[in-house]
Amino acid sequence: MTKKAIYPGTFDPITNGHLDIIRRASELFDTVIVAVAQSSGKNPLFDKAERLNLSQQVLSGISNVEVLSFDGLLVNLAADEGANIIVRGVRSIADFEYEVQMAGMNRRMMPELDTVFLTPDSQWADLSSTLVRDIARHGGDVSGFVPSNIETAITKKLG
Ligand code: COA
Repeated sequence: MTKKAIYPGTFDPITNGHLDIIRRASELFDTVIVAVAQSSGKNPLFDKAERLNLSQQVLSGISNVEVLSFDGLLVNLAADEGANIIVRGVRSIADFEYEVQMAGMNRRMMPELDTVFLTPDSQWADLSSTLVRDIARHGGDVSGFVPSNIETAITKKLG
């Protein structure tokens, strides 16, 4: 059976930690769809089209990774795309409770869809998009946490 996985997230912006998970997933599964969620509730810095575009730029070099954006339920996207696996990154025990809850609810809505948890390299365990935005907003150097096109985009966005 072809293993088609979806890695969903807000990606506001995509970070080196996300890339680490995507690279690992791309070696485990035939296709990985990086799905950029609308996430209006998070009031993102970059709009959905910008997050999609930036993620596409960063991931263009990995042949079995596709990037798209979505609105609505993840299980509906999985059904539309014929995906049978959700990939989520778990950085610490703090992520785990929420992730297990989400995996459980997704399973109740679509029992044939399994969630697989991957851990990023420990150097990215403390990283989050919110912290990257916060550091950049205060003039800090984020070059160690995001690819260079993302750093440029944040600097431009924050003026
Ligand atoms: N490296 C760095 N940061 C990471 C990371 C990693 N490997 N893994 C997670 N993170 C960070 C993200 O940067 C993000 O940080 P932020 O909150 O500061 O932006 C945080 O962890 C979690 O974000 P993310 O992985 O993007 O998840 P999310 O909570 O923003 O997105 C969705 C969750 C989009 C997957 C979920 O809301 C969803 O499926 N939405 C669709 C609607 C739906 O189906 N709802 C029902 C779900 S049961």
